[in-house]
Amino acid sequence: MAKKIGKVGVVGLGAMGAGIAQLCVEAGVETVGREVSMEIAEPARDRIAHFLQRKVDKGLLEQGARDDAVGRLTLTTDVADLAGCDLVIEAIVEELGPKQELFAALEAVCAGDAVLATNTSALSVTEIASATATPERVVGMHFFNPAPLMPLVEIIRAELTSDSAFETAFAFGEKLGKHPIRCHDTPGFVVNRVLIPVLNDCIRVLDEARVSVEDLDAGLKHGAGWPMGPCELVDLVGIDVHVHASEALYEKTREPRMAAPPRLVAMRNAGLLGRKSGRGFYTY
Ligand code: CAA
Repeated sequence: MAKKIGKVGVVGLGAMGAGIAQLCVEAGVETVGREVSMEIAEPARDRIAHFLQRKVDKGLLEQGARDDAVGRLTLTTDVADLAGCDLVIEAIVEELGPKQELFAALEAVCAGDAVLATNTSALSVTEIASATATPERVVGMHFFNPAPLMPLVEIIRAELTSDSAFETAFAFGEKLGKHPIRCHDTPGFVVNRVLIPVLNDCIRVLDEARVSVEDLDAGLKHGAGWPMGPCELVDLVGIDVHVHASEALYEKTREPRMAAPPRLVAMRNAGLLGRKSGRGFYTY
């Protein structure tokens, strides 16, 4: 029932979109990356090329295979260039309006049976799909940061997603070498429903237990087996991204633990965004 994917589009080449595009070209799939300007798109391709070169340096990839993979990525600023894609994965700004606008535009240019996926982490896939006249082909494919390294992808069934679109997204997740899991469209899906309030609890503990950032991170790493501490992780995800996701989930669930701790909101407002701004809980 899964549709064969010969060509894929990735819209938005930020950290997540570029990571997803990297996975697609590594999996041997022709990929069109769309950004609003070439000034943003080209550095994203350079980052992909860099990460693939690191794999060559470490003996994990042949130089020729790396060059072929980089060659499979074409860049565009025009949504119309996604016309020939069998699957388009959206990874733009986490706001409903721009996502709905994009899905309506994708529906207008893509073939009737193309699958349209969103990488949203905290918005409703059903609401995004409602901007189209063909919501049955809209599905969630939620990757984790950093996408090339994290094995999971959540495949999210919105209210009207067809079995065919759902299974196509699942099979494509497997083709990318990921471990896909199936779930329905509920706030935070599976992992963020658990992880966001837990990370918010961790940040509250910083003040409550008067523990240092380093000790809190050491606590969760060495006492709970986390691969990185919560402060390191929020710095990796981006303080702004985490606060935005917390606010979106709080709005939907009204669970106090979902609300972003004031300390994180203050950091976001001060421009301390984590790794990407050079400073968050740590300095990079
Ligand atoms: N970004 C970063 N590194 C990349 C990369 C990319 N896009 N693509 C390839 N790489 C490569 C790098 O080149 C790097 O090697 P060099 O430094 O030598 O160049 C290499 O990957 C790092 O690989 P390692 O195996 O050495 O990494 P590690 O063992 O230190 O593990 C980790 C790193 C996988 C991030 C691990 O620390 C981890 O699992 N952390 C937890 C991350 C996590 O929980 N993420 C989920 C966040 S929540 C989320 O994403 C949901 C949401 O909606 C917000």
